[in-house]
Amino acid sequence: MEKTIDENKQGKSLVLEQKKGNTRKLFIESYGCAMNFSDSEIVASILSEQGFNTTQSLEDADLVLVNTCSIRDKAEQTVRKRLEKYNAVKRINPKMKVGVLGCMAERLKTKFLEEEKIVDLVVGPDAYKDLPNLLAEVDQGRDAINVILSKEETYGDIAPVRLNTNGITAYVSITRGCDNMCTFCVVPFTRGRERSRDPQSIIEEVNDLWSKGYKEITLLGQNVDSYLWYGGGLKKDFIKASDMQKATAVNFAQLLELCAKAQPRIRIRFSTSNPQDLTLDVIETMAKFDNICKHIHLPVQSGSNRILKEMNRLHTREEYFELIDNIKNILPNCAISQDLITGFPTETEQDHQDTLSLMDYVKYNFGYMFTYSERPGTMAERKMDDDIPEVIKKRRLAEIVQRQREHSEIKTKAYLSTTVEVLIERESKKSNVQWSGRTSQNIVAVFPKEQYQIGDLVNVNVTDCTSATLIGVAIGYSKDN
Ligand code: SAH
Ligand code: F3S
Repeated sequence: MEKTIDENKQGKSLVLEQKKGNTRKLFIESYGCAMNFSDSEIVASILSEQGFNTTQSLEDADLVLVNTCSIRDKAEQTVRKRLEKYNAVKRINPKMKVGVLGCMAERLKTKFLEEEKIVDLVVGPDAYKDLPNLLAEVDQGRDAINVILSKEETYGDIAPVRLNTNGITAYVSITRGCDNMCTFCVVPFTRGRERSRDPQSIIEEVNDLWSKGYKEITLLGQNVDSYLWYGGGLKKDFIKASDMQKATAVNFAQLLELCAKAQPRIRIRFSTSNPQDLTLDVIETMAKFDNICKHIHLPVQSGSNRILKEMNRLHTREEYFELIDNIKNILPNCAISQDLITGFPTETEQDHQDTLSLMDYVKYNFGYMFTYSERPGTMAERKMDDDIPEVIKKRRLAEIVQRQREHSEIKTKAYLSTTVEVLIERESKKSNVQWSGRTSQNIVAVFPKEQYQIGDLVNVNVTDCTSATLIGVAIGYSKDN
């Protein structure tokens, strides 16, 4: 692989990994969760062996791939719009082939080929290794599809080609799929059963990233705390494992420790934690290692016990509070963030008030909030009416967003006149004389560039803030730089 520096449309420089001698051009874009962005890097790696280098220009592409999201109806509509755009380009470049990857491919299967004439190729999240065969079909003018889900595939043996990278932060996927079956969620259907990746291959990837100059990694999975390696296989089959396998099994806390020790200067983040699986030993491991960032994304979805039960979230409001108390006691400087849904079927005003009071108790640093979107095939869609009118969903959403803004502001203001450690990631979106980076707590900080460079770890005096961003001046390199 050769590294080249390219300028994207916004004039920002990007590090591109390109293989010498490759002549075909791949345009790949991703929607939805971090896992999709990470999967696209695996796809780019597989295709680099098939003669493809990536291009930033849709018009130049021989092959266009879109990695899609099904989590909410709106996410699917966004992808449909992109297909219209590809259609317009294909009129000028009829040889261009178009493929759909990811969750929509898995959900809609052959329907995609019927509904969208532009699509030549449909590939589900576990079938990317079949791309060379599928492309051979497409090259011969036939549509191709593989949406078979796997109980083993983790792509642990594939070295991702980093896309759109700043050369500083990278995703490392550790589990695939999800076994939780939250009743609103399409992910278990589109990404299949949960499986964990061999820790050895994870550590090798982390070591490789550090040697290439990366300074921060995010361990990725739908439910990272459920990570369990005992030689491969589904988590539910662990009971059948041999004594030897049980004795040498690696859980998430142990994996975190292995990563933190393998590269004591690389920053480590992880996402997402499901409250029912986040154990005390994970929180204690976070406390033990300075290089594990002090931030937990801990989606709760609702503050009402009745709704949590309807959602098949396997914890109560009280158990969630206990977990929050433990985090606050063991990691007093840890940021906590949420995902919340308003307007789940049967949600009453009282349920909504319970969500607001839960937010008041936790005081999240930030969060991602959504109105409920009914997903075909999920338990909620099959068993419940989507009975909360859109206006009420939206009003409740506005109320929780407003409450979150108030909490974020309190949390951010607490950093005023303090010094925070920031890893510089990119130029600030608002000013080309300022850097932007994040603190250990995942809070964005901006400050004048001065002599500092992308990838530097610096101490920043916080002089001002908005509800989401710290504003300050750098006062020198961190001792860990
Ligand atoms: N694995 C993660 C979440 C994956 S989906 C977890 O443990 O929670 C990301 C977020 O999208 C969810 O946390 C939820 O808040 C939201 N979401 C999922 N399905 C949704 C739906 N049908 N309607 C609205 N929001 C949804
Ligand atoms: Fe979805 Fe629940 Fe898994 S939100 S991804 S089914 S933890």
